[in-house]
Amino acid sequence: MIPADLERAVYGMYATHALRIADRHGVFEYLTRHSGESAGKIAAALTVDEDTLERLLLVLSAFGVLDAEGGCYALAADVRPYVDRADPRYLMGFVDHLIDDTAGQFGQLSGYLHVGKVETDRDEPAPFEAIYRDDESVGRFLGAMWGLSHHVSHELAALADLSGARQLIDVGGASGPFSVAALQAFPQLRSTVFDLPQVGPHLAARSAEHGLDDRLAFTAGDFFHDPLPAGDCFAFGYILSDWDDQTCATLLRKAYEACLPGGRVLIMERLFDDDRGGPLATAVMNLSMHIETQGRHRTAAEYLDLLRQAGFADGTVRRSSGDKHLIIGRRATSGSER
Ligand SMILES: C[S@@+](CC[C@H](N)C(=O)[O-])C[C@H]1O[C@@H](n2cnc3c(N)ncnc32)[C@H](O)[C@@H]1O
Repeated sequence: MIPADLERAVYGMYATHALRIADRHGVFEYLTRHSGESAGKIAAALTVDEDTLERLLLVLSAFGVLDAEGGCYALAADVRPYVDRADPRYLMGFVDHLIDDTAGQFGQLSGYLHVGKVETDRDEPAPFEAIYRDDESVGRFLGAMWGLSHHVSHELAALADLSGARQLIDVGGASGPFSVAALQAFPQLRSTVFDLPQVGPHLAARSAEHGLDDRLAFTAGDFFHDPLPAGDCFAFGYILSDWDDQTCATLLRKAYEACLPGGRVLIMERLFDDDRGGPLATAVMNLSMHIETQGRHRTAAEYLDLLRQAGFADGTVRRSSGDKHLIIGRRATSGSER
């Protein structure tokens, strides 16, 4: 008998693809509206082949995504928000990204093991040139980031307590998952998303959707070559995990220089446990960062260390109930702290 953990690891690929196919063919959308239906009834409603659908439903049930009782299928209660397109936690955009963008690059790992990442990737485009290779890829990536980041951002904004802040600079803020949540929670706040030019139209669409046009601005730029706009709060959400320590130190120092005295920086990231024994998603995404970017995931202590190196003081860690957490650093009012 294969041990249960190994079994899930071996067959996990089927679960990922079953999730995507069920989503694409409207199975989850149907099950959010009709609970406890037979494969035959679902197949008829969706006009798909019943035999194929039933096999798919059985896989999703075996993995606990669906509850199956007496040949009828329903969404498991805790799964529902993540497969419901109308819910901000909808995760299937991220599943698309894993299959369409990440999986095709797994082959690189052999090269990394043999001669290292730098040598293997020597002729590859920079991470975001590849991720943003065409308009569809930009849209898919930003949709995935919104799905991963927006819901937890409400909690992160509250944990950050931005009631005293006036001008947020959301560095690499994408289509605004954090900015939108922060602006909704703190009416006195304004935000500028600083990101690559391709991102502009996607931020504008989210801003209009949430009625934030007068408080949410976009500055197109490259954080390696352009200065950051000035502000009293700098957000780095899933940015530092894209880059090596040296680059993180440079970016944080840049934020420090642009930060008004008394201001702060917010790092929002997955965190490894102190012994790096988990969590599972952080370990997996740490490998994914290696394939897709030049970064890695870190422990809270490693982020606190990066903050100190950049000159920020009073480093504190605030954990959310999700898998994106907050590390805060402050720029002292005197400006003479470094
Ligand atoms: C992993 S996403 C994080 C998005 C968002 N902050 C979040 O928490 O979900 C990384 C972001 O960094 C931006 N980015 C990458 N390289 C950049 C650069 N050189 N200058 C400015 N932004 C950059 C990308 O466009 C993308 O929006």
